[in-house]
Amino acid sequence: MSNIEKYRKYFTKDYLMGPNSFRLLDELIRRKPADVQFHRTLDLGCGYALTSFFIANETDADYVYAFDLWIPATENYLRIQESRLEDKVIPVHGDAMDMPFAHEYFDAVISVDSYHYFGCKEGVFAEKILPFVKKKGCVMIAIPGLKAQPQGELKKLFETWAEGDDSLLFKTAEWWEKLLKKECGNCCEIAVKEAECFDIAWQEWFDSEHEFGIRDKEFLQKGLDQILNFILIYVTKN
Ligand SMILES: C[S@@+](CC[C@H](N)C(=O)[O-])C[C@H]1O[C@@H](n2cnc3c(N)ncnc32)[C@H](O)[C@@H]1O
Repeated sequence: MSNIEKYRKYFTKDYLMGPNSFRLLDELIRRKPADVQFHRTLDLGCGYALTSFFIANETDADYVYAFDLWIPATENYLRIQESRLEDKVIPVHGDAMDMPFAHEYFDAVISVDSYHYFGCKEGVFAEKILPFVKKKGCVMIAIPGLKAQPQGELKKLFETWAEGDDSLLFKTAEWWEKLLKKECGNCCEIAVKEAECFDIAWQEWFDSEHEFGIRDKEFLQKGLDQILNFILIYVTKN
């Protein structure tokens, strides 16, 4: 059984919060820089902590901190106990803009389908995230983004789908690379890639028949699939 198949029971509208995060996370980990350590890993914006389960089971992480704003830690703790991962996965409620951890604590920070909600502003990465990463540690981010800025009818379609201000959370790979290079200067190695799992991650979200997935499918079929992508970002602290 592949890594992903073990998690198929979660590919439903009760658990998925968008395009299948297991696909994004699996690819994010497969394409990581060679020397990444997972010993203490932060799952930043973990949602229902399912991505934390995957990290706990499929990497050599000893501790995974399941950190989220919208989902209460107690709710995630119940799920963690059901999965018998309470010795490895630690639920924490909080805001990425004010994290309660020691500086230089994490070997890895992983963030799937979450970083764009709070990370688009200049200064966030360098001031709010990077201090918590050890030297030689790595921040790995998978987020939805744009192949290019949409124009004309596609721009209108995109803005209708993203309902106004949310459209500002979607950026190109070049935009993210420029922002992170500006913030991190020479203190980090930065790699930004386009993910390959676009079709299957969306298809499994549509198949869940979540009401938002049904709406997303209509918009992607009208042409949004031409401009959207998923972006993988790796920042290694020198
Ligand atoms: C679409 S969900 C993805 C959840 C999970 N990573 C997954 O892939 O299934 C986005 C998550 O980002 C989290 N989030 C948004 N803003 C945040 C912030 N400022 N601090 C921490 N988490 C945040 C939300 O709480 C939400 O659970």
